[in-house]
Amino acid sequence: MPPSTSPSTPLPVPGRGRLLELQLGPEGPRRTAVEAALRSAIRDGRLPAGSPLPSTRALAADLGLARGTVVDAYERLRTEGLLRTRAGAATTVAAAQSGPNRPPSARRPAEPDILDLRPRYPDLSAFPRAQWSAAIRHVMRTASSEAFGNGDMQGRIELRAALAQMLGRSRGVIASPERIVICGGFTQGLSLIAQELADRGATHLGMENPNLEQHRRIVESRGLAVDGLPVDSAGASLAGVDAARLSGVVVTPSHQHPVGVALSPARRTELLAWAAATGGVIVEDDYDGEFRYDRQPPASLQSRAPDLVIYAGTASKTLAPGLRLGWLVAPPQWISPIVEQKRLADAGASSIDQLALAHLVSTGAYERQVRRMRLTYRRRRDHTVGRLAARLPQLRVSGLAAGLHVVVHLPSNAPSEAEALRRLARSGVVVGGLSASRHDPGRGPDALLVSYAAPPGHAFERSIERFVAALAAAIEVG
Ligand SMILES: Cc1ncc(COP(=O)(O)O)c(C=O)c1O
Repeated sequence: MPPSTSPSTPLPVPGRGRLLELQLGPEGPRRTAVEAALRSAIRDGRLPAGSPLPSTRALAADLGLARGTVVDAYERLRTEGLLRTRAGAATTVAAAQSGPNRPPSARRPAEPDILDLRPRYPDLSAFPRAQWSAAIRHVMRTASSEAFGNGDMQGRIELRAALAQMLGRSRGVIASPERIVICGGFTQGLSLIAQELADRGATHLGMENPNLEQHRRIVESRGLAVDGLPVDSAGASLAGVDAARLSGVVVTPSHQHPVGVALSPARRTELLAWAAATGGVIVEDDYDGEFRYDRQPPASLQSRAPDLVIYAGTASKTLAPGLRLGWLVAPPQWISPIVEQKRLADAGASSIDQLALAHLVSTGAYERQVRRMRLTYRRRRDHTVGRLAARLPQLRVSGLAAGLHVVVHLPSNAPSEAEALRRLARSGVVVGGLSASRHDPGRGPDALLVSYAAPPGHAFERSIERFVAALAAAIEVG
């Protein structure tokens, strides 16, 4: 019996370095679902004969299943003759067989094999499912009925209290529960702040150039004009900007997105002096400040001037963007305006998820996950940089000290960024381009933004091999 597929939980299964969607129904044996997904990948040619499968341990971890489930599925497919196992070697897909079960004419053409390395997501397969399940069980055992109502618009006190402690410890943020507002990720936090500024009559907001286009669109949708703050190797600056007309600036001091530099001490001082002189607000987007590899992360900008800076953090890189949980630590006079804006935007973040996150943070499980992923991502970064240097030594790579992606600069004799992106896409590899982040996309050097975090662990090395080979072909001149 095929597994139930509706409603379903999509889970990743390997296929030549990309993710396939495994439809896992709420009912029915999980082994059957794993088997069915692998069987159809083999039949469709997405897993061709001879291709190695990940170890049962790696695949089970990525799928959030017990290892025995994957072992059983492999064993079943082995007895069907679809997989080959040899002691001490990886399990591989067996050579194609002909026969009534597998008529060649019944083979569907292989699906396009897309490898998505855009710098959007952390490794989603590394979400700490067991810890989250334990946290939800804890909440179900301990929460009073009141927790199932809409709750405090500012956010659950349990979460705000846990975050206040952790942010002080890990990022030097000067926080107390009263100064924190829980929101739907940084995206909603930015939207609430921009709306509040617009309501107060602001006309211009400074944003780093380059930055995420989506963030510019959010600000503009609130009726504010965006002025670009130029970014160089010392981070964003106010050079050449009409700073007097800005009511606020949005910056990524720990790890500029997408260029990857840290805001220098002198630039920090420059921004704080501007805010103190004009009353403008600094929004510090600390979206991935936890992931710095070569030295201690610089303390948050907020720690130097908690009355001038709204610090913004998110669970989107440390856990998963699907949680839609972020937090603002704001000067006292900003708290009720932001809470009022949130009241107009929605009826608050999920109380249950907030309580589960509060449990993870207060028990230390959140910081353990961050430490684990920091080590993983550092290894991945080193591997990616090493493979690029070995295969394409002519390319300069930057933005390495922190974050989840590298910036690959295209030399002047290579095809343009747009052409390289097109050629990569033709071979099924999707990465980001720096131009899309520029306020004026036509200007500036060409570079690719490549996530080393996105692939699941079992497919990571294959994914990087595939990317490097595709890039080598894409930048061939002529
Ligand atoms: C620059 C930047 N800020 C913030 C975020 C996080 O946004 P959110 O918390 O809404 O998921 C991201 C995520 O990709 C980002 O790239």
